[in-house]
Amino acid sequence: MKVAFFDAKPYDRPSFDKFGERCGVKFKYFETKLTEDTVKLAKGYDGVCVFVNDTVNASVIDSLEELGIKAIALRCAGFNNVDVKHAKGKMRVVRVPAYSPYAVAEHAMAMLLTSIRRIHKSYIRTRDFNFSLSGLTGFDLHGKTVGVIGTGKIGQVFIDICKGFGMNVLAYDKYPSEKVEQKGVKYVSLDELFTSSDVISLHCPLTDETYHLIDGGAIEKCKKGVAIINTSRGALVDAEALLNGIKTRKVGTACLDVYEEESEHFFEDKSGHIMDDDVLARLISMPNVIVTSHQAFLTEEALSAIAEVTVFNLLKIEKGEECENEVCYKNREVGDCK
Ligand code: NAI
Repeated sequence: MKVAFFDAKPYDRPSFDKFGERCGVKFKYFETKLTEDTVKLAKGYDGVCVFVNDTVNASVIDSLEELGIKAIALRCAGFNNVDVKHAKGKMRVVRVPAYSPYAVAEHAMAMLLTSIRRIHKSYIRTRDFNFSLSGLTGFDLHGKTVGVIGTGKIGQVFIDICKGFGMNVLAYDKYPSEKVEQKGVKYVSLDELFTSSDVISLHCPLTDETYHLIDGGAIEKCKKGVAIINTSRGALVDAEALLNGIKTRKVGTACLDVYEEESEHFFEDKSGHIMDDDVLARLISMPNVIVTSHQAFLTEEALSAIAEVTVFNLLKIEKGEECENEVCYKNREVGDCK
């Protein structure tokens, strides 16, 4: 099976080559993203392998169909960038629903600790032999309340980590889970979560319902000094409202691994360029904002699991077999992939 691999990065290749060679799947790596302009590169291949910022809209899907593409293999969990309804009946769409929930949950906690204990500031100070502690006062997580939105695989690992820190955990999920309640977690309404949490962490998918879940109104309800962590999808947070919340001192800390307009910037070295996204530039300039470039998944364990499951998914499609990682598996409702 021959697969056109879009938005390829050097760190993708070793694991995809390893599992591909083992199973007879040949990947051709293209550095460019999949878009309406680049879709023709898929000519002569059986499938495409895409990531979070590739464009897989109706027009791209129609072009892929004309080229005889049978499979869209997402090498990630979220699939908000694929028009799944349009692809239905034309080609099969598979994803990697879980590769390492630990990678993402641990990164969320790493960002939170970095920010609230000012590690990013002290790292720079001590490299310059500045051993002053002024302005580095943080706060204990022990005894604080964390509100977790989305208690699936990553949310649950994050809850366990927070419990380990002695935090009280509140949660909100469209589909509350008994297993989570048994951990001593209380499900509450979104409003109660906003008004009661010292830290809010987002672990739900991006859907029409969750778009701008954290907007100006939500921030207004939050405690003064709230820490907001987003390792899920950028558009869950209205970035301008967040920036305003930081300027008014309502938001004490923002930890962002994802950003609404990230596809223009993230994963690329833009250090020699003029940053033309004023909101992103202003967020990055804030002392209490930590931005990482959609890095939460990037561990050796996760990369290996992503490649292994993607190759498994592609082989299932090649053989015409059912695949449980298909987005519309057994006519599961689109957007309800639990
Ligand atoms: P999951 O499917 O196991 O859990 C998602 C949870 O969100 C489920 O419990 C679901 O019921 C809940 N949910 C669905 N709609 C909701 C709504 N309207 N309101 C509240 N909760 C809702 O997914 P998993 O593996 O935990 O991943 C969560 C998200 O993390 C993914 O959707 C993806 O966007 C993001 N992610 C980010 C990565 C990164 O590198 N930054 C890597 C992997 C995933």
